[in-house]
Amino acid sequence: MVLAVAVSKKDAEKARKFLISRGIINFSYNPASSRDKIFFPLAESEIAEEALKDLKVKHAVVRKRLKKKESKKVELPPFDMIGEIAIFELPKEFRDKPETEREKAAKKIARDIMANQKNIKTVAVKTGGIKGPFRIRSFKVVAGNRSTITIHKEHGCRFKLDVSKAYYSPRLSFERKRISSLIKEKETVFVPFAGVGPFAIIIAKNHPSASVYANELNPDAYRYLVENIKLNKVSNVIPIPGDARDLKTKEYWRIADRVVMPLPMSADQFLDVAFHLAKKGGTVHFYYFTDSIESAERVVMEAAEREGRKIKIIESRVVRDYSPDIIEVVVDFQIL
Ligand SMILES: C[S@@+](CC[C@H](N)C(=O)[O-])C[C@H]1O[C@@H](n2cnc3c(N)ncnc32)[C@H](O)[C@@H]1O
Repeated sequence: MVLAVAVSKKDAEKARKFLISRGIINFSYNPASSRDKIFFPLAESEIAEEALKDLKVKHAVVRKRLKKKESKKVELPPFDMIGEIAIFELPKEFRDKPETEREKAAKKIARDIMANQKNIKTVAVKTGGIKGPFRIRSFKVVAGNRSTITIHKEHGCRFKLDVSKAYYSPRLSFERKRISSLIKEKETVFVPFAGVGPFAIIIAKNHPSASVYANELNPDAYRYLVENIKLNKVSNVIPIPGDARDLKTKEYWRIADRVVMPLPMSADQFLDVAFHLAKKGGTVHFYYFTDSIESAERVVMEAAEREGRKIKIIESRVVRDYSPDIIEVVVDFQIL
Protein backbone atom coordinates (compact mmCIF):
# COMPACT_ATOMS: atom_id res chain seq x y z
CA MET A 1 0.00 0.00 0.00
CA VAL A 2 1.35 3.40 -0.99
CA LEU A 3 0.72 6.77 0.66
CA ALA A 4 -1.52 8.74 -1.71
CA VAL A 5 -3.62 11.85 -1.86
CA ALA A 6 -7.17 11.51 -3.17
CA VAL A 7 -8.83 14.40 -5.01
CA SER A 8 -11.94 14.69 -7.15
CA LYS A 9 -11.41 14.34 -10.90
CA LYS A 10 -12.25 17.97 -11.53
CA ASP A 11 -9.44 19.08 -9.20
CA ALA A 12 -6.89 16.54 -10.44
CA GLU A 13 -4.81 18.84 -12.68
CA LYS A 14 -4.59 21.56 -10.04
CA ALA A 15 -3.54 18.99 -7.43
CA ARG A 16 -0.98 17.34 -9.75
CA LYS A 17 0.71 20.70 -10.46
CA PHE A 18 0.76 21.51 -6.74
CA LEU A 19 2.35 18.15 -5.78
CA ILE A 20 5.02 18.51 -8.47
CA SER A 21 5.78 22.12 -7.55
CA ARG A 22 6.41 21.04 -3.92
CA GLY A 23 8.48 18.01 -4.96
CA ILE A 24 6.24 15.64 -2.96
CA ILE A 25 4.85 13.40 -5.70
CA ASN A 26 6.24 9.86 -5.76
CA PHE A 27 7.17 9.23 -9.39
CA SER A 28 7.88 5.55 -8.77
CA TYR A 29 4.14 4.79 -8.87
CA ASN A 30 1.34 5.49 -11.32
CA PRO A 31 -1.68 7.50 -10.21
CA ALA A 32 -4.91 5.52 -10.07
CA SER A 33 -8.54 6.48 -10.52
CA SER A 34 -11.93 5.42 -9.21
CA ARG A 35 -15.33 6.55 -10.49
CA ASP A 36 -14.96 10.15 -9.30
CA LYS A 37 -11.48 10.35 -7.75
CA ILE A 38 -7.82 10.40 -8.71
CA PHE A 39 -5.16 9.03 -6.34
CA PHE A 40 -1.69 10.58 -6.64
CA PRO A 41 1.24 8.72 -5.04
CA LEU A 42 2.92 10.79 -2.30
CA ALA A 43 6.50 10.87 -1.03
CA GLU A 44 6.65 9.16 2.38
CA SER A 45 7.63 12.07 4.62
CA GLU A 46 6.27 14.40 7.27
CA ILE A 47 7.21 17.25 4.94
CA ALA A 48 4.73 15.95 2.34
CA GLU A 49 1.89 15.87 4.85
CA GLU A 50 2.85 19.33 6.11
CA ALA A 51 2.99 20.74 2.56
CA LEU A 52 -0.47 19.33 1.81
CA LYS A 53 -1.93 21.89 4.22
CA ASP A 54 -1.42 24.39 1.39
CA LEU A 55 -3.30 22.32 -1.19
CA LYS A 56 -6.35 24.45 -1.92
CA VAL A 57 -8.63 21.66 -3.22
CA LYS A 58 -10.58 19.17 -1.12
CA HIS A 59 -8.40 16.11 -0.52
CA ALA A 60 -7.72 13.14 1.75
CA VAL A 61 -4.50 11.29 2.54
CA VAL A 62 -5.03 7.53 2.18
CA ARG A 63 -3.16 4.26 1.73
CA LYS A 64 -3.85 2.80 -1.71
CA ARG A 65 -2.63 -0.09 -3.81
CA LEU A 66 -0.89 1.66 -6.73
CA LYS A 67 0.98 0.14 -9.65
CA LYS A 68 4.75 0.56 -9.67
CA LYS A 69 6.03 2.15 -12.89
CA GLU A 70 7.90 -0.53 -14.76
CA SER A 71 8.32 0.68 -18.28
CA LYS A 72 10.83 3.43 -17.53
CA LYS A 73 14.53 2.58 -17.14
CA VAL A 74 15.03 5.83 -15.22
CA GLU A 75 12.32 6.80 -12.75
CA LEU A 76 11.80 10.50 -12.27
CA PRO A 77 13.54 11.74 -9.14
CA PRO A 78 11.89 14.49 -7.07
CA PHE A 79 12.70 17.95 -8.37
CA ASP A 80 12.35 21.55 -7.25
CA MET A 81 10.33 23.77 -9.52
CA ILE A 82 11.21 27.45 -9.46
CA GLY A 83 8.96 29.24 -11.93
CA GLU A 84 9.50 27.47 -15.26
CA ILE A 85 12.78 25.86 -14.16
CA ALA A 86 13.07 22.31 -12.78
CA ILE A 87 16.18 21.31 -10.81
CA PHE A 88 16.76 17.65 -9.93
CA GLU A 89 19.45 15.53 -8.32
CA LEU A 90 20.92 12.65 -10.33
CA PRO A 91 19.80 9.39 -8.62
CA LYS A 92 22.46 7.67 -6.49
CA GLU A 93 22.95 4.74 -8.88
CA PHE A 94 24.52 7.06 -11.49
CA ARG A 95 26.87 8.99 -9.21
CA ASP A 96 29.91 6.73 -9.64
CA LYS A 97 29.38 6.16 -13.36
CA PRO A 98 31.61 7.75 -16.03
CA GLU A 99 30.85 11.37 -16.98
CA THR A 100 29.32 10.43 -20.38
CA GLU A 101 26.91 7.97 -18.77
CA ARG A 102 25.90 10.49 -16.10
CA GLU A 103 25.27 13.12 -18.76
CA LYS A 104 23.17 10.71 -20.80
CA ALA A 105 21.08 9.78 -17.75
CA ALA A 106 20.62 13.44 -16.80
CA LYS A 107 19.42 14.32 -20.30
CA LYS A 108 16.96 11.41 -20.32
CA ILE A 109 15.52 12.41 -16.92
CA ALA A 110 15.33 16.04 -18.10
CA ARG A 111 13.38 15.01 -21.22
CA ASP A 112 11.01 12.90 -19.08
CA ILE A 113 10.44 15.83 -16.72
CA MET A 114 9.66 18.14 -19.64
CA ALA A 115 7.29 15.56 -21.11
CA ASN A 116 5.50 15.30 -17.74
CA GLN A 117 5.28 19.01 -17.02
CA LYS A 118 4.35 21.05 -20.04
CA ASN A 119 5.03 24.42 -18.38
CA ILE A 120 8.70 23.68 -17.67
CA LYS A 121 11.03 25.54 -20.03
CA THR A 122 14.44 24.69 -18.53
CA VAL A 123 15.69 21.58 -16.72
CA ALA A 124 18.92 21.50 -14.72
CA VAL A 125 20.77 18.82 -12.77
CA LYS A 126 22.40 19.59 -9.42
CA THR A 127 26.20 19.53 -9.55
CA GLY A 128 26.78 20.25 -5.88
CA GLY A 129 25.20 21.80 -2.82
CA ILE A 130 23.98 25.32 -2.16
CA LYS A 131 27.18 27.27 -1.70
CA GLY A 132 28.87 30.36 -0.33
CA PRO A 133 27.52 33.30 1.64
CA PHE A 134 24.98 34.06 -1.10
CA ARG A 135 23.63 30.46 -0.92
CA ILE A 136 23.83 29.87 -4.68
CA ARG A 137 22.79 26.54 -6.19
CA SER A 138 25.35 24.59 -8.24
CA PHE A 139 23.69 23.09 -11.32
CA LYS A 140 24.09 22.48 -15.02
CA VAL A 141 21.29 23.09 -17.50
CA VAL A 142 20.63 19.90 -19.47
CA ALA A 143 17.41 20.57 -21.40
CA GLY A 144 15.03 23.27 -22.54
CA ASN A 145 15.61 26.86 -23.51
CA ARG A 146 18.56 27.30 -21.08
CA SER A 147 17.36 30.52 -19.51
CA THR A 148 17.99 30.63 -15.77
CA ILE A 149 15.79 33.70 -15.30
CA THR A 150 12.22 33.00 -14.31
CA ILE A 151 9.21 34.26 -12.35
CA HIS A 152 8.06 32.05 -9.47
CA LYS A 153 4.55 32.45 -8.08
CA GLU A 154 3.92 31.92 -4.37
CA HIS A 155 0.94 32.87 -2.17
CA GLY A 156 -0.37 35.36 -4.75
CA CYS A 157 3.01 37.11 -5.21
CA ARG A 158 5.51 36.92 -8.09
CA PHE A 159 9.26 36.66 -7.66
CA LYS A 160 11.60 37.27 -10.57
CA LEU A 161 15.10 35.89 -10.20
CA ASP A 162 18.07 34.33 -11.90
CA VAL A 163 18.47 30.97 -10.14
CA SER A 164 22.19 30.94 -11.03
CA LYS A 165 22.74 34.21 -9.16
CA ALA A 166 20.26 34.34 -6.26
CA TYR A 167 18.75 31.91 -3.74
CA TYR A 168 15.16 30.70 -3.83
CA SER A 169 13.60 27.59 -2.36
CA PRO A 170 9.96 26.66 -2.93
CA ARG A 171 10.32 24.31 0.05
CA LEU A 172 10.05 27.25 2.46
CA SER A 173 6.65 28.24 1.14
CA PHE A 174 4.86 26.86 4.21
CA GLU A 175 7.08 28.89 6.57
CA ARG A 176 6.44 32.09 4.62
CA LYS A 177 2.72 31.59 4.94
CA ARG A 178 3.02 30.66 8.62
CA ILE A 179 5.05 33.76 9.52
CA SER A 180 2.77 36.00 7.47
CA SER A 181 -0.25 34.64 9.37
CA LEU A 182 1.31 35.75 12.69
CA ILE A 183 1.71 39.43 11.77
CA LYS A 184 -0.51 41.93 13.58
CA GLU A 185 -1.73 45.42 12.53
CA LYS A 186 1.03 48.01 12.07
CA GLU A 187 3.88 45.68 13.00
CA THR A 188 7.45 46.62 12.13
CA VAL A 189 9.08 43.51 10.68
CA PHE A 190 12.78 43.12 9.91
CA VAL A 191 13.98 40.48 7.46
CA PRO A 192 17.77 40.34 7.27
CA PHE A 193 18.85 37.76 4.64
CA ALA A 194 15.82 38.70 2.52
CA GLY A 195 17.04 37.22 -0.79
CA VAL A 196 14.81 38.24 -3.70
CA GLY A 197 12.09 39.10 -1.18
CA PRO A 198 9.70 36.18 -0.57
CA PHE A 199 9.30 36.56 3.23
CA ALA A 200 9.25 40.38 3.13
CA ILE A 201 6.94 40.79 0.13
CA ILE A 202 4.41 38.11 1.15
CA ILE A 203 4.18 39.72 4.60
CA ALA A 204 3.90 43.23 3.11
CA LYS A 205 1.25 42.23 0.57
CA ASN A 206 -0.91 40.53 3.22
CA HIS A 207 -0.44 43.29 5.80
CA PRO A 208 -0.50 46.73 4.16
CA SER A 209 -0.34 48.43 7.58
CA ALA A 210 2.97 46.70 8.43
CA SER A 211 6.40 48.20 7.71
CA VAL A 212 8.81 45.59 6.43
CA TYR A 213 12.58 46.14 6.30
CA ALA A 214 14.36 43.76 3.91
CA ASN A 215 18.14 43.48 3.99
CA GLU A 216 20.28 41.55 1.48
CA LEU A 217 24.02 41.22 0.89
CA ASN A 218 24.13 39.64 -2.59
CA PRO A 219 23.95 42.53 -5.12
CA ASP A 220 22.13 40.35 -7.70
CA ALA A 221 19.53 39.17 -5.19
CA TYR A 222 19.16 42.75 -3.96
CA ARG A 223 18.51 43.98 -7.53
CA TYR A 224 15.69 41.38 -7.86
CA LEU A 225 14.37 42.29 -4.41
CA VAL A 226 13.93 45.90 -5.56
CA GLU A 227 12.38 44.72 -8.85
CA ASN A 228 10.01 42.35 -7.03
CA ILE A 229 8.83 45.12 -4.70
CA LYS A 230 7.67 46.97 -7.84
CA LEU A 231 6.36 43.82 -9.55
CA ASN A 232 4.10 43.10 -6.56
CA LYS A 233 3.12 46.75 -6.10
CA VAL A 234 3.94 46.83 -2.38
CA SER A 235 4.81 50.22 -0.94
CA ASN A 236 5.58 49.05 2.62
CA VAL A 237 8.89 47.22 2.00
CA ILE A 238 12.05 49.19 2.74
CA PRO A 239 15.02 47.51 0.99
CA ILE A 240 18.44 47.81 2.64
CA PRO A 241 21.49 46.61 0.67
CA GLY A 242 24.60 45.23 2.36
CA ASP A 243 25.74 43.13 5.28
CA ALA A 244 23.31 42.39 8.13
CA ARG A 245 26.27 43.01 10.45
CA ASP A 246 25.98 46.71 9.60
CA LEU A 247 22.38 46.88 10.84
CA LYS A 248 23.60 47.51 14.39
CA THR A 249 23.07 51.26 14.07
CA LYS A 250 21.17 53.81 16.19
CA GLU A 251 18.53 54.08 13.47
CA TYR A 252 17.51 50.41 13.79
CA TRP A 253 18.01 49.98 17.55
CA ARG A 254 15.05 48.02 18.91
CA ILE A 255 12.63 49.11 16.19
CA ALA A 256 11.26 45.67 15.24
CA ASP A 257 8.20 43.87 16.59
CA ARG A 258 9.45 40.84 14.68
CA VAL A 259 12.76 39.70 13.20
CA VAL A 260 12.81 36.87 10.65
CA MET A 261 16.24 35.21 10.20
CA PRO A 262 16.14 32.89 7.15
CA LEU A 263 19.90 32.11 7.01
CA PRO A 264 20.00 28.62 8.56
CA MET A 265 23.67 28.03 7.67
CA SER A 266 24.98 30.79 9.95
CA ALA A 267 22.10 32.63 11.64
CA ASP A 268 23.76 31.86 15.01
CA GLN A 269 26.45 34.40 14.12
CA PHE A 270 23.82 37.11 13.73
CA LEU A 271 21.76 36.64 16.89
CA ASP A 272 23.41 39.76 18.36
CA VAL A 273 22.01 41.67 15.34
CA ALA A 274 18.53 40.22 15.99
CA PHE A 275 18.75 41.32 19.64
CA HIS A 276 19.80 44.81 18.47
CA LEU A 277 16.81 45.07 16.10
CA ALA A 278 14.09 43.52 18.29
CA LYS A 279 12.00 45.52 20.75
CA LYS A 280 11.15 44.34 24.24
CA GLY A 281 8.14 42.08 23.66
CA GLY A 282 9.25 41.45 20.06
CA THR A 283 9.46 38.02 18.43
CA VAL A 284 12.40 36.44 16.59
CA HIS A 285 12.12 33.54 14.12
CA PHE A 286 15.51 31.83 14.10
CA TYR A 287 16.16 29.28 11.30
CA TYR A 288 19.10 26.97 11.90
CA PHE A 289 20.76 23.84 10.46
CA THR A 290 21.49 21.50 13.33
CA ASP A 291 21.10 17.94 14.58
CA SER A 292 18.28 18.52 17.06
CA ILE A 293 15.70 21.02 18.26
CA GLU A 294 17.44 21.06 21.67
CA SER A 295 20.76 22.22 20.23
CA ALA A 296 19.06 25.06 18.28
CA GLU A 297 17.31 26.18 21.47
CA ARG A 298 20.60 26.04 23.37
CA VAL A 299 22.25 28.33 20.78
CA VAL A 300 19.43 30.85 21.23
CA MET A 301 19.51 30.75 25.03
CA GLU A 302 23.28 31.18 25.17
CA ALA A 303 23.11 34.19 22.82
CA ALA A 304 20.36 35.77 24.97
CA GLU A 305 22.53 35.36 28.03
CA ARG A 306 25.51 36.98 26.28
CA GLU A 307 23.31 39.90 25.24
CA GLY A 308 21.78 40.23 28.72
CA ARG A 309 18.23 39.77 27.38
CA LYS A 310 15.52 37.55 28.87
CA ILE A 311 13.65 35.39 26.38
CA LYS A 312 10.81 32.91 26.23
CA ILE A 313 10.79 30.18 23.59
CA ILE A 314 7.32 30.16 22.08
CA GLU A 315 7.68 27.19 19.75
CA SER A 316 10.41 25.16 18.04
CA ARG A 317 9.84 22.82 15.13
CA VAL A 318 11.54 20.94 12.32
CA VAL A 319 11.09 22.79 9.02
CA ARG A 320 12.60 20.08 6.80
CA ASP A 321 15.24 17.37 6.55
CA TYR A 322 18.30 18.98 4.98
CA SER A 323 20.65 15.98 4.74
CA PRO A 324 20.79 12.55 6.39
CA ASP A 325 22.20 14.05 9.63
CA ILE A 326 21.04 17.65 9.48
CA ILE A 327 17.60 19.16 9.96
CA GLU A 328 16.44 22.74 9.54
CA VAL A 329 14.83 23.91 12.76
CA VAL A 330 12.95 27.12 13.47
CA VAL A 331 12.91 28.52 17.00
CA ASP A 332 10.31 31.23 17.61
CA PHE A 333 11.16 33.22 20.71
CA GLN A 334 9.96 36.34 22.42
CA ILE A 335 12.13 38.94 24.08
CA LEU A 336 10.75 39.69 27.54
C1 LIG B 1 18.92 31.06 2.62
S1 LIG B 1 18.83 32.55 1.71
C2 LIG B 1 17.17 33.08 2.11
C3 LIG B 1 16.63 34.06 1.12
C4 LIG B 1 15.15 34.39 1.28
N1 LIG B 1 14.83 34.89 2.58
C5 LIG B 1 14.29 33.19 0.93
O1 LIG B 1 13.57 32.68 1.81
O2 LIG B 1 14.30 32.75 -0.22
C6 LIG B 1 19.84 33.62 2.66
C7 LIG B 1 20.11 34.97 2.03
O3 LIG B 1 20.92 35.73 2.93
C8 LIG B 1 21.86 36.47 2.20
N2 LIG B 1 22.98 36.78 3.10
C9 LIG B 1 24.02 35.99 3.45
N3 LIG B 1 24.82 36.61 4.33
C10 LIG B 1 24.28 37.83 4.53
C11 LIG B 1 24.66 38.93 5.36
N4 LIG B 1 25.76 38.89 6.09
N5 LIG B 1 23.87 40.02 5.35
C12 LIG B 1 22.74 40.07 4.60
N6 LIG B 1 22.34 39.06 3.78
C13 LIG B 1 23.09 37.94 3.75
C14 LIG B 1 22.22 35.55 1.02
O4 LIG B 1 22.76 36.27 -0.05
C15 LIG B 1 20.86 34.92 0.71
O5 LIG B 1 20.17 35.64 -0.26
